[in-house]
Amino acid sequence: MKRPKLIAGNWKMNTTVSEGLKTLDSLLVGLSQMTPKAQVAVAPPFTHLSDFQKKLKGTSICLAAQNVSDKLNGAYTGEVSVFMLKELGVKKVIIAHSERRQYYGETNDSALEKIKVVLKHEIYPIYCVGESLEDRESGHHFEVVEEQITSVLYKLSEEKLPKITIAYEPVWAIGTGKTATPEQADEMHAFIRDVIGKRFGDDLGVQMQILYGGSVNAANAASLLAMPHIDGALVGGASLKPEEFLSIIKAAS
Ligand code: G3P
Repeated sequence: MKRPKLIAGNWKMNTTVSEGLKTLDSLLVGLSQMTPKAQVAVAPPFTHLSDFQKKLKGTSICLAAQNVSDKLNGAYTGEVSVFMLKELGVKKVIIAHSERRQYYGETNDSALEKIKVVLKHEIYPIYCVGESLEDRESGHHFEVVEEQITSVLYKLSEEKLPKITIAYEPVWAIGTGKTATPEQADEMHAFIRDVIGKRFGDDLGVQMQILYGGSVNAANAASLLAMPHIDGALVGGASLKPEEFLSIIKAAS
């Protein structure tokens, strides 16, 4: 099954707006010299979204956000609502990234609420799942990821699933330089498809777009993206280096 490929850059809490605009400019110059087969998205910090919306107008790059509130508006200091993202042309939002789970109390329940909110307002979620090193070393990695899938996606109606991208990000590979092997990643992606298939039927399991994230770089991208169940990458550190990110985009073509 041919699924659209997506290469998304998660900039995390990096760059000021002026620095980010310089990085984006370099990325745009590089992209203008190629015809990427994959869709490309960038998720800068919230502070960059307005300037990035202007800069990306007329380009094929999709503007994404790194988080969103499950509330629509009101007395929620520090939060950013789906309406604010929509106004800034955000089309995708990363939900339940492991760093939000680890440091900011994101749970499967809050992730479900956020997915419902963004889908209702026609923004597409990139829902992050993944196990810790302890889970993997103890052989519980499938169980952990299954729980993250069933406790969230099983509670959505079938017609919502194709609008959701899943990002499998083994926590032990994020920012560590230790990447899952293509076989490890593909095995988990296939497992995720099976879990979805159990509830919604194999066709939907096969159809879901599933990205791999965790120390993706120019050197390993091609081998990961060649795997049958991997539809793209959610890239952290390497997405802040235009040449490296362009190489990853090329590898997806
Ligand atoms: O969301 C993607 C990110 O968690 C992966 O980070 O730096 O390992 O590519 P990195």
